[in-house]
Amino acid sequence: MRVLVTAGPTREAIDDVRFLTSGSTGRMGFEIAAAARDAGHDVTLVFGPVPLSPPDGVTVVPVVSALDMRAAVLERFDEVDAVVMVAAVADYRPEERIEGKRKKADGPWDLRLVRNPDILSELGRRRTHQFLVGFALEAENGEANARAKLEAKGCDAIVLDSPATVGADVSDFAIVTRDGIEHLPNTTKAALAVQIVALL
Ligand code: C5P
Repeated sequence: MRVLVTAGPTREAIDDVRFLTSGSTGRMGFEIAAAARDAGHDVTLVFGPVPLSPPDGVTVVPVVSALDMRAAVLERFDEVDAVVMVAAVADYRPEERIEGKRKKADGPWDLRLVRNPDILSELGRRRTHQFLVGFALEAENGEANARAKLEAKGCDAIVLDSPATVGADVSDFAIVTRDGIEHLPNTTKAALAVQIVALL
């Protein structure tokens, strides 16, 4: 199959030297890309700025912002059989990018943010045959929120994780589909990646 994986954070520019982002390392998405490659699939990895090197043997598409990621994913969507959206896409971006470097001034700075498009929801509306997997990092009511996200975003599976997963090697995960929930306690990201590829 042709599998598209997104990974890492996105970076939303405030001015030419500053940005908003998250602490996503890209590791989970890279593990899934490597596991899909090892299973013989043709893998494209669209990823935001991370310090890690992407795995060998996959087509790499580095991007910066959520809007860049959306364009890179939509451009390839018709040709793929499955998409795994692992990226921690920024929900908001600064309304405008300030040219140069903003000078500091006395008093507070009100920075206005606008919503970024939800890429996975858009794929859920546009899909024809593609199998779609999303991730949900939930601090509480994980199962209920994951089920709600499965419907709201129109995907086939939601991988549930918790804030403790960020930067960790081993964590508790669950895969929620319309058939039910599979709990994967104390699981490495590499082992979870193999399970997700098996699901595809
Ligand atoms: O709604 P929430 O951010 O919890 O959903 C997480 C899932 O949605 C992840 O699969 C993430 O990659 C995807 N997402 C997206 N576009 C956004 C925000 C999240 O595709 N703007």
